[in-house]
Amino acid sequence: MIVGENGCTDTFAKYEALVSSLPATQGLWNYTYRKYNGFWYPEHLMAPTLIMRDTFVARPTDVILATIPKSGATWLKALAFCVVHRGRHAPTNERHPLLVSSPHELVPFLHSVHENYRSGPPDLLLEEMPSPRVLALHTPFSALPASVQESGCRVVYLCRDPKDVFVSLHHYLNEIKPARFAMTPFAESFDLFCNGVSGFGPVWDHMAEYWKESVARTEEVMFLRYEHLKEDTVGCMMRLAEFLGCPFTDEERASCVPEAVVAMCSMERMKSVEANQVGEHGAGEFTFRNSVFFRKGEVGDWKAHMTADMARRLDGIVEEKLRGSGLSLTGN
Ligand code: A3P
Repeated sequence: MIVGENGCTDTFAKYEALVSSLPATQGLWNYTYRKYNGFWYPEHLMAPTLIMRDTFVARPTDVILATIPKSGATWLKALAFCVVHRGRHAPTNERHPLLVSSPHELVPFLHSVHENYRSGPPDLLLEEMPSPRVLALHTPFSALPASVQESGCRVVYLCRDPKDVFVSLHHYLNEIKPARFAMTPFAESFDLFCNGVSGFGPVWDHMAEYWKESVARTEEVMFLRYEHLKEDTVGCMMRLAEFLGCPFTDEERASCVPEAVVAMCSMERMKSVEANQVGEHGAGEFTFRNSVFFRKGEVGDWKAHMTADMARRLDGIVEEKLRGSGLSLTGN
């Protein structure tokens, strides 16, 4: 969508008027969440999501990375970017883009790009990005732009144990909270999460939608698990490369290129990059340091924060909601 400055802001105003008519509730920080087609969106991301859905034109070569927040999008962005562009940027290159820029700059969130339409044409014009574009979003499958399915482009979903998602989310929201908000106490946040009120939640419905699609369209939608990625990063990343149509050659394997990709994208390496320490992400009052995207990166950190009762409650909800879907997240 290339429109003049006023066209952008007029479009935004039109969508914001629509958003104000959607059901609302108070979520974490007492922030307003809007409900659209069964999912809760932080209010400021609702209009950008709808604009994206109505205007984004996917290319057959696009790679779309989808996650519910705090499932490991930053890691997946780094891995996918490194895999797809390894012909141009060797993962052993000390000046690799991932050692200079944040994964979030190299692989933008589509809703962030469309959020910029609030004040005029965004800096990053999607039309000008060279193919293959690697892009990310948190949008539920049912709210994706129609062109994503129609184009046949690849969609990669990264799923994580909802208990770890919740703990990661609580820490993250505490870090990025603008001063005018108060952090919701842990137990209250947990209640909201269990009631399905979190960004792009309910988490279980978000996961189930992508799972179902990955089963129905194996060539186009890949379903990855954070826990599996942690357990066997090289193996999962090689499957990702195959799925994206750029498998590692025997020669690359012999030269340990897959291992170099994994090392480049590791938590330790990513944390050491200046752009990931002091660089900033977001817009307006939701601007914060990139360092908040790198915390512990562990499986099972929920054990240090949740009571056994809390864990049982969330597991019970997830199990019940996913029953019959073929997806199980609790017996990991
Ligand atoms: P924790 O808060 O549990 O540590 P997202 O990128 O979707 O915002 O998710 C953030 C979570 O992914 C955080 O989890 C973060 O530490 C973890 N993460 C970020 N980079 C990672 C990496 N390179 N390897 C493993 N985990 C990573």
